[in-house]
Amino acid sequence: MSNVIVIDHPLVQHKLSLLRDKDTGAKSFRELVNELALLMGYEVTKNLPLKDAVIETPMQVTTVKILENEKIAVVPILRAGLGMADGIMNLIPNAKLGHIGLYRNPDTLMPTSYYVKLPIDIEERETIIVDPMLATGNSAIEAVNVVKNANSKSIRLVCLIAAPEGIEAMQKAHPDVDIYVASIDEKLDDHGYIVPGLGDAGDRLFGTK
Ligand code: URA
Repeated sequence: MSNVIVIDHPLVQHKLSLLRDKDTGAKSFRELVNELALLMGYEVTKNLPLKDAVIETPMQVTTVKILENEKIAVVPILRAGLGMADGIMNLIPNAKLGHIGLYRNPDTLMPTSYYVKLPIDIEERETIIVDPMLATGNSAIEAVNVVKNANSKSIRLVCLIAAPEGIEAMQKAHPDVDIYVASIDEKLDDHGYIVPGLGDAGDRLFGTK
């Protein structure tokens, strides 16, 4: 069974609370999502394996630790996932960025893929899929399907807020994928929104409502 890691760092919790506030405007919302992705990225990358490397400091030759596999792919689920991509990319500037576009049909709540572009060497990469809201889990499940079919070495899922329903669905569909969240909220409402949540993450990021 996959791990669900709730990142309860005080800065993460504080920024998440600001994000939830309905009076937080698009500019602040974007900045907060960016900061949260960076802070969460620190935890998400915590167990990346290291290897020894020999370098020369100005003082002497020495053995240091570097990432065993620098090949990381960051894959936002469009469109709200875009808000988290920069934050993680700031932390891992050599990562390659893929994109998965999944439109959620408001009636069936099922995802429909309209765009997939992954790094060409995804088979050699550890993939971090980002999407602010893990609601029904359908979009995340489909995004993981896409990345698995492309044979990525490993997959981690990072969301700001998850509903218990989404976690359960993800764990059932992909028990091998660890899920990182800043909060597990109460439930989904009848329209598939997380409560208390933060509303529509895409609309709030891009000011479309
Ligand atoms: N997507 C969102 O943007 N918000 C939710 O609450 C659920 C899905």
